[in-house]
Amino acid sequence: MADAAYPEIELGGAKLRELQLERLRWTVDHAYRNNAHYRVAFDQLGVKPDDLRSLEDLARFPFTGKAELRARYPFGFFSVPMDKIARVHASSGTTGQPTVVGYTKGDLERWAQLVARSLYVAGGRPGMKVHVGYGYGLFTGGLGAHFGAEAGGYTVIPMSGGQTERQVQLIQDFKPDILMMTPSYTLAVVDEFRRQGLDPRKSSLSIGLFGAEPWTDGMRREIEASLDIKAVDIYGLSEVMGPGVASEFASHQGGPTIWEDHFLPEIVDPVTGAVLPDGERGELVFTSLTKEAMPVIRYRTRDLTRLIPGVASPMRRIDRIVGRSDDMLIIRGVNVFPTQIEELLLRVEGLAPHYEMVLTRPDRLDELLVRVEPRPDRAAEHHPTDSRQLAALIKDIVGVTAKIEICVVGALPRSAGKQAHVKDLRTAAK
Ligand code: DLL
Repeated sequence: MADAAYPEIELGGAKLRELQLERLRWTVDHAYRNNAHYRVAFDQLGVKPDDLRSLEDLARFPFTGKAELRARYPFGFFSVPMDKIARVHASSGTTGQPTVVGYTKGDLERWAQLVARSLYVAGGRPGMKVHVGYGYGLFTGGLGAHFGAEAGGYTVIPMSGGQTERQVQLIQDFKPDILMMTPSYTLAVVDEFRRQGLDPRKSSLSIGLFGAEPWTDGMRREIEASLDIKAVDIYGLSEVMGPGVASEFASHQGGPTIWEDHFLPEIVDPVTGAVLPDGERGELVFTSLTKEAMPVIRYRTRDLTRLIPGVASPMRRIDRIVGRSDDMLIIRGVNVFPTQIEELLLRVEGLAPHYEMVLTRPDRLDELLVRVEPRPDRAAEHHPTDSRQLAALIKDIVGVTAKIEICVVGALPRSAGKQAHVKDLRTAAK
């Protein structure tokens, strides 16, 4: 795809590697000089910025994790003076203390450009209207999408998450072309369309950029069919930037393209930390190449995926994220990700993609209950067949025994942002 609007998309081969090396050397040097954490961590390993002569040398440098960022809460991880920080964001952190990230003006401009690039490869064009349904505030989703769409020349509708009735009203009245929202919340909005007696397929929307949580191809088909749109996958995380670290082309939906001119990816063995070759599954690790305020070196995302070759761009892609290593459930010794259950329940005709996994340990043995809603038009007499079918699929494909409960429509919690699918009550029962 030759593109005058975003020529960087075309970068590849030796040219890309040269640029990456130049930027990587700048990053490592900047981090070592201006961030106390990196100075100590490099010295402990006996590496110096000058040791970085090729991209492969990066493997000699230390990893960075959430713990290192938290240890310097709130602003101790910044690598520029505080008066150069134009904005902060924070990720909520389920256990108390949030992780704070910071941006210089230049960082914010580059971020906006990468989101604009992501919108462009999704099929967006200046002049279109973008409905931003990611939450505004400390979360990077809302403001990240907002400024990216503005930079790309779109009309922005800064709706944020929540107020589901209002979401539908604004989509009906303002007629946006593009939707940016979490996939799970999009389902709630689709339900609301139907509750109001409206056909979501008749909305003005034609493109959606969905991310911020793991989702499956089954969910993509569901969203595409129910809104009659093209749904692409946008990936990112606050510590590395926010939305737009990688994003999918509308022309090739097989996984987000990593914007490798700004982020260098690695896949490592989650246990040993050894670098794995492209194509092998492991934990995704990122090194920022252009970040001023908060460069990250070998940041362990905990997201499990693999690197696959580029298609629409020479830059590499990530395969769909199976889940985070912390989301992996071990049920009677079997590793299970919520996305596996999602993929399977979407194969059962009568089931809606609203689900919850409840884990208990009544007699020192794990039990999995999958609570799921039926499709509203599905008569109650089909429910036993649906639940038998789902239990059989879970047993055959995932290898665990699950009890299935078909709830009434609307019984399961909906989230206006990232949806939690797991209730693990096992530790309480120990
Ligand atoms: O969720 C940034 C974002 C906002 C991305 C809007 C896309 C759209 P955090 O709150 O820091 O940042 O959460 C980052 O969310 O490590 C993944 O586990 C997960 N995640 C983000 N995008 C995807 C995706 C934002 N497309 C964490 N597929 C990441 C799967 C995703 N998981």
